[in-house]
Amino acid sequence: MKLIDGKKIASEIKQEIAVQVNEIVERGERPPHLAAVLVGHDGGSETYVAFKIKDCGEVGFKSSLIRFEDNVTEDELLAKVNELNNDDNLDGFIVQLPLPKHISEQKIIEAINPKKDVDGFHPENVGRMVIGLPSFVSATPFGIVELLKRYNIETSGKNCVIVGRSNIVGRPLSVLMSQKAVNATVTVAHSRTHNLEEVCRNADILIAAIGVPEFVKGNMVKEGAVVIDVGTTRVKSDKTKSGWKLKGDVLFEEVADKCSYITPVPGGVGPMTRVSLLLNTMLSAKKEIYK
Ligand code: GUN
Repeated sequence: MKLIDGKKIASEIKQEIAVQVNEIVERGERPPHLAAVLVGHDGGSETYVAFKIKDCGEVGFKSSLIRFEDNVTEDELLAKVNELNNDDNLDGFIVQLPLPKHISEQKIIEAINPKKDVDGFHPENVGRMVIGLPSFVSATPFGIVELLKRYNIETSGKNCVIVGRSNIVGRPLSVLMSQKAVNATVTVAHSRTHNLEEVCRNADILIAAIGVPEFVKGNMVKEGAVVIDVGTTRVKSDKTKSGWKLKGDVLFEEVADKCSYITPVPGGVGPMTRVSLLLNTMLSAKKEIYK
């Protein structure tokens, strides 16, 4: 079994991005600029957004953090989105999810200018991706495909089973994995799938993206499979300073011995998700998606 070191690959990609930022700045242009909108004080969202801002600094991007309290109205948030849409000094922005219940996430997502939608959540970007047009692709699927590529993992003709059908991970990933650049034969499994263990055992590449800690057990994995663990559930821990630790969707102890490659949690998919947002922002700055 080989560990897929997402942290190492993400760090290499960050260095590549930093070189490109230097070239841009040396030409006398402004560096790429990402903004993040954060509503409220959810612990997970605070952490993720802080990482996004930190990542920008590390590659030389400009970043802006825009905060609202939980009681912000939908109209106020829509007005901010509109302002960011029209800000020529900004290449892309994200509105961190989840949002408070009184705000329609879908309405906010659809208000974002697709040309600045570096999360790739806008229906226009999702639709363009489905039919193979240049698009911003959501960060986790983008990062996983890049990880497989950089590890030279054969995907063509392979059976890829994705457990989970979320709009952010499972579904877009199923489209990417079936595209001509990847050529996998894709099955999307979910809570209503019959004989899930058997379906998973058929996978050459098994991707767990259900958000249930340690859901994938040893008996669900074929000998020699490639296992990608997207799970990042916070569970209580008395061994860490923060009082919690991350758990993946794969029972690592049982699965690791059976597979050819596996991503650890943390240090696998997570860092690739983070770096993909930087890649999308760079694509936007270079106008490579919408020319
Ligand atoms: N919440 C969890 N993941 C994400 C993400 O990738 N983007 C945004 N905007 N919110 C999230």
